[in-house]
Amino acid sequence: MSITPGRRARQVIKRDSRVILTTTREHFPFVVDRGEGDHIYDVDGNKFIDFSSFISVYNLGVNSTEEVRKEAKKQIDRLMHGAFTDYYSELPVRFAENLIKVMPSGFGKVFYSNSGTEANEAAIKFARIFTGRQYTLAFHGSFHGRTMGSLALTASKTVQRERFGPFNSAIHAPYAYCYRCPFGKEYPSCGMACVDYIKKEVLAKETSPKEISAIFMEPVLGEGGYVVPPKEFVYVIRKLADEHGMLLVSAEVQAGYMRTGKFLALDNFNVKADIYTMAKAVGGGIPMGVTITRRSLGDIPAGAHSNTFGGNLVAVAAAQASLAYVRSHRQELERGIRSRGGTIMERLEDMKTRYEIIGDVRGLGMMIGVEFVRDRKTKEFARSERDEIIGECFKSGLILLPAGESTIRIIPPLTVAMSNLGEGLDILENAVKKVNGAAKRR
Ligand SMILES: Cc1ncc(COP(=O)(O)O)c(C=O)c1O
Repeated sequence: MSITPGRRARQVIKRDSRVILTTTREHFPFVVDRGEGDHIYDVDGNKFIDFSSFISVYNLGVNSTEEVRKEAKKQIDRLMHGAFTDYYSELPVRFAENLIKVMPSGFGKVFYSNSGTEANEAAIKFARIFTGRQYTLAFHGSFHGRTMGSLALTASKTVQRERFGPFNSAIHAPYAYCYRCPFGKEYPSCGMACVDYIKKEVLAKETSPKEISAIFMEPVLGEGGYVVPPKEFVYVIRKLADEHGMLLVSAEVQAGYMRTGKFLALDNFNVKADIYTMAKAVGGGIPMGVTITRRSLGDIPAGAHSNTFGGNLVAVAAAQASLAYVRSHRQELERGIRSRGGTIMERLEDMKTRYEIIGDVRGLGMMIGVEFVRDRKTKEFARSERDEIIGECFKSGLILLPAGESTIRIIPPLTVAMSNLGEGLDILENAVKKVNGAAKRR
């Protein structure tokens, strides 16, 4: 099978270029039309297997479940927008009550927004109010959004920041990206050199921890390349926060909502945060962000932070139906993620033994990344080769997304059928084989 954009796709792309200002598209001419389950169809009727969950949104299948769609449609006919920040309504209260049931004990209070960046903006402001401190610490490689507050924390690619500074009071520290340790060491013999650096350099010479309100941490780096830190790193960061009265914000916009096999990605590390942020999958396909705080932190003064659409009734109806599914199928989902994640990892590890271009395979649950390199010793990023692989897969009917410099994310819906998973991995392997062969001949 070889898919090329048809007449309708070409027309839409041409019109798009005339009226749409900016996006992050770069890899292939994919013009979506309709989707269900594991598949998405383009405007020319071409069928694709989805290994992207549409940027980690469709965790329960492309276009979510029938029940989620039914509840959203029902709410559309009843009342779409209830101005939840000014008037009361029951549905957002019920959803918050149910969300708290799947959170660690002691949580909490929920603030509603419409996206990941807004969920993080709220957390930045709340952390300042709770601690009375003005700085925020985030990690190199992290992505927290593109609005000016969360962009100050984002440090995944300079293209996202250049032209926009100066930023507000954020400082950055190395993340435990062990495959590319910035100190040239190996875990565990490194003795957590990255944390040592944070203590002895960042917090001793740049900004006093007494002035830092919170540490923002993605439990698994998303945009930054699907990097899973050692458990010890997360534990030590929690300890560091405690020692200095800083809050820990677990930024789970991408990693949360069962993606890593647990509802909260941070739970894989046996650590609890003070504030959690989530978005993407929470609304089941409708925009929604949530910022969830530990109850003992208290409240935010009225008017200090708000928005118009937070708690939008259609979004909450969809989120409620999606969460009901997760709660009633929790064990089945967890088992499924373990076996599907295991299948993906085994297959990628096996591919790594045959294709030199694969430098590293890593992941948690069904949040899996494969990093491509030109040379396993120098670890030179195989950026264009990675893009070629994504393009080859598209032509063969598989949708994938990049991450970091030369990584591909493997994030199908959590419910993907084993047969479609296998078919997608076959397509991926064929593409890797082709590009690996071409790279060797160069
Ligand atoms: C970890 C993380 N945080 C924040 C964001 C920003 O979310 P949004 O694009 O909904 O503003 C993203 C988006 O990819 C993300 O992956």
